[in-house]
Amino acid sequence: MTSSDTVRRAVCPGSFDPVTNGHIDIISRASLLFDEVVVAVGINKAKSRARLFSAEERIAMLEKVCAEFPNVTVAGFEGLLTTFCQERDIRAIVKGLRAVSDFDYELQMAQMNSSLVDVETVFIPTSPEWSFLASSLVKEVAMLGGDVSGLLPPDVLTQLTERLAERARSDQAD
Ligand code: PNS
Repeated sequence: MTSSDTVRRAVCPGSFDPVTNGHIDIISRASLLFDEVVVAVGINKAKSRARLFSAEERIAMLEKVCAEFPNVTVAGFEGLLTTFCQERDIRAIVKGLRAVSDFDYELQMAQMNSSLVDVETVFIPTSPEWSFLASSLVKEVAMLGGDVSGLLPPDVLTQLTERLAERARSDQAD
């Protein structure tokens, strides 16, 4: 038997701009199902201006948040997720499903990915308490002054509050 037969590796991919309690729910549950989990932060240079946090910032936030899970590591990736999986001998992609509305696109991606390389997508239903959660909504609510403190780890909330204040100051100066 080779090590790839015995070690069950999975990837939890995403943009994580920023990481929310919903992401952490999925990562922590994946860490119980697999021997090793890599949280893969998508770096899409074409979208970098649309991001609130740089790839380095998103990776650093996740490293801090995932430190409590001994079998979870964090990495950035560019290009195809399937190439990242091949390079690391990963056979499972873990995705959280919040609602039926997530399913259509996730199924399409799962089927495309498995047509490219030997990889399965494993869907984990998001815990009901986080089923409405999305980074984009958290950013919008926070930007408009809403309380998002229950939706993010405390350090991430601090960084989000600071970044939005910086953005507001630079918008005023323009
Ligand atoms: O958090 P998100 O934005 O839903 O994450 C999307 C992500 C990064 C998982 C997805 O866009 C992705 O896999 N990007 C890598 C590029 C790729 O492999 N595209 C083909 C998908 S079938």
